[in-house]
Amino acid sequence: MNNKTSIQGSWASRWIFILAATGSAVGLGNIWKFPYITGENGGGAFVLVYLACILLVGIPIMMAEVFIGRRARKNPINAITDLAAESAGSKSWSIIGLMGMLSGVLIFSFYSVVGGWVLHYIKIMLTGEMLGVTSEQAGAAFGGLLEDPTTLLLWHTLFSIMTVVVVAAGVNKGIETVTRVMMPALFVLLLILLGYAMTTGSFGDGWNFMFHFDFSALTWNSALIALGHSFFTLSLGMGTIMAYGSYMTQKASIGKTVLTIGALDTLVALVAGLAIFPIIFSNNMDPGAGPGLMFISLPVAFGQMPFGQLFGTLFFVLVGVAAWTSAISLLEPTVAFLVEKFKLKRLTASIGLGIIVWGLGIACLGSFNFMSDVTFFGKNTFDFLDYITANIMLPLGGILISLFAGWVVKDKFAQDELQLSDGIFKLWNISMKYTAPIAVAIVLYFLINPLS
Ligand code: PFF
Ligand code: NA
Repeated sequence: MNNKTSIQGSWASRWIFILAATGSAVGLGNIWKFPYITGENGGGAFVLVYLACILLVGIPIMMAEVFIGRRARKNPINAITDLAAESAGSKSWSIIGLMGMLSGVLIFSFYSVVGGWVLHYIKIMLTGEMLGVTSEQAGAAFGGLLEDPTTLLLWHTLFSIMTVVVVAAGVNKGIETVTRVMMPALFVLLLILLGYAMTTGSFGDGWNFMFHFDFSALTWNSALIALGHSFFTLSLGMGTIMAYGSYMTQKASIGKTVLTIGALDTLVALVAGLAIFPIIFSNNMDPGAGPGLMFISLPVAFGQMPFGQLFGTLFFVLVGVAAWTSAISLLEPTVAFLVEKFKLKRLTASIGLGIIVWGLGIACLGSFNFMSDVTFFGKNTFDFLDYITANIMLPLGGILISLFAGWVVKDKFAQDELQLSDGIFKLWNISMKYTAPIAVAIVLYFLINPLS
């Protein structure tokens, strides 16, 4: 047992840690990305592979991140350095932390742009602008938003400020306070929307679409997307969960805690699908519509339904809350590092980092308008950053973390923190040494050399 605490503070209880980590995990990945990639990949079989990835790869890696953070009680770079030293391993492993901070900064820059779209949609749903619009009109409204850098900048700036304010306020006064209020609100909103979807008369169609496991529909490519998404959705591979773990109480069991977080994230994704698809089906729209599913199809659907203005607004508030708590967690590891390593004040570190990510966000929002001809490997800045972070950097971070936890950290130290029964510890250890890195390596290989 170690009695160290982080200089940033500690969560008030095990449940606060669970809710804060769930706040990080549950985000645009669950409510925006998961339904549209499920739609694009044909539904059921994709969902099944995604569930397997969460259980076999995601959960064991999350356990590793939490125990590394909790043992060292420091930001990811210093945590890995400390644990490497303790196990007489190379200090170079701390490069994982550096790469993770970079991933966080890059993800934030497009995440905040989408967060801005969500804020804009809260406004236009609330004012009733979208009531009764056709698909063409909704498509034109979304297209018009993307072509308007001033409006995008306004909302991106607001979203960035909302995030930086919370991070600057610190682990207890900032993150914990937002967690306590926003996470229960998020669950209540989700249940309200699920209830609403049940009244559409198409709930069964939505259910079948997600849970009819038709293996003939499964392609290699969709399996690869499912694994990549399991990292993104659980906030793994970049040190976020490590940083949150460093504020965890010593008493709490890591295994149970991590299972709860993984289950909550998965539940929110599934419920979001069960809330969205019936609404889509009841309006005879296409579930495979891609990224516009939420910003084009849903507003049309809400606009034609009883109380659509109210429930449409609540829906986008829900997405906004989810995005906000995730965005906070994207900045936390780097801010903790700047404070611990360079002795900066938290306020200074948060504002400094905030200005950098805000600036990068401008390049992302410009992808749809004044910078649309700037491309990297054929992708605009927004798509490129989404691609390299979710599909390359996070899985790579994940492999390195599992190799570090499995091969470098001495079993005794891992078991000190994890306190698993012998059998389960063995399973976890095999997953760290072999299963997780091999699965991820295969996926990375195919992502870089796509099967056509
Ligand atoms: N897990 C978040 C989502 O599903 O939207 C995204 C995310 C947040 C990824 C924080 C990584 C991270 F560190
Ligand atoms: Na998620």
